[in-house]
Amino acid sequence: MSDHHLPAHPGFPATRLRRLRQHPGVRSLVRRTRLSPAHLILPLFARAGKNFRREIPSMPGHFQLSPDLLVEPISQAAELGLGGVILFGIPEEKDAIGSDAMSDDGIVQQAVRVAKQTAPELLVITDVCCCEYTDHGHCGILGDTTGRTDVDNDATLELLARQAVSHARAGADMVAPSGMMDGMVGAIRRGLDGADFSHLPIMSYAAKYASAFYGPFREAAESTPQAGNRRGYQMDPAAAAEQALREVQLDLDEGADLVMVKPALAYLDIIRMVAERMPGVPLAAYNVSGEYSMVKAAAERGWIDERAVAIESLTAMHRAGADIILTYWAADVARWLA
Ligand code: PBG
Repeated sequence: MSDHHLPAHPGFPATRLRRLRQHPGVRSLVRRTRLSPAHLILPLFARAGKNFRREIPSMPGHFQLSPDLLVEPISQAAELGLGGVILFGIPEEKDAIGSDAMSDDGIVQQAVRVAKQTAPELLVITDVCCCEYTDHGHCGILGDTTGRTDVDNDATLELLARQAVSHARAGADMVAPSGMMDGMVGAIRRGLDGADFSHLPIMSYAAKYASAFYGPFREAAESTPQAGNRRGYQMDPAAAAEQALREVQLDLDEGADLVMVKPALAYLDIIRMVAERMPGVPLAAYNVSGEYSMVKAAAERGWIDERAVAIESLTAMHRAGADIILTYWAADVARWLA
């Protein structure tokens, strides 16, 4: 049957949805999703050293920076009105347990102090995980509790709690555990509460998938596992979508204040589901490194318009239900919107 045999919908011609689109003023009036810098968080990579600045090849516009050079992006983040920054550290020395992450003189702790000195009002979040600090690159310490070498979940919990407390002592305003260990939020909550940081919120990477979209980040953070992969702890992309709800619920029960879905673009269904089923829970989405790099690479070739694609993607993440977005475009978006 060809098209013209189909009857027009019964509302036509009285109903014409194009009337909502023809005048730019009407389009603007009925727009519900608006990006705002206050809901964007900028990831930054702190690297041990002085006067050190190296662009991350797969993430143009992003750098490994020594603490002294973090002053510039931190003050810009504050001036642009960003919702905050999230700090990742690349230590001088890595070891089996990721000692630098728990050291009050560790790279992230130094970076936090610089951030708080530079822009005391800017929200400073730290990523709490072992993978950037361990010589094997896994998100916890290794053991053979299961009969083969694997991350020892329960032994890792204490280290994560110590990391979080050390970050808090350095001045972090919020901690964000990203290791997908069972019980990590509860262990960190107890650690913080026991160290007089019961006021400090936890943003949990609650539904974090084992994703190939993290590739460029692992170059940036020098955190690629030396052997194996992260599928034993990060979620399987093909698992029942509702498993994300269980992860979120467990983290909330353990004391998470905000929860995250990660990555973002390929997981908009998960974002939507969590937003709908967990109303009132602040929800973040991580627009991850691979999502950024793909657009950068295509834009460099003149194949797509970076700015338009970035804004469209971030808008989709908000529309799906994310209140907060962690994105490498945070500062760019703030400038584009200004
Ligand atoms: C650390 C961590 C990762 C990311 C954020 N925290 C990497 C990983 O799990 O391998 C990825 C962020 C990105 O790709 O932008 N566990």
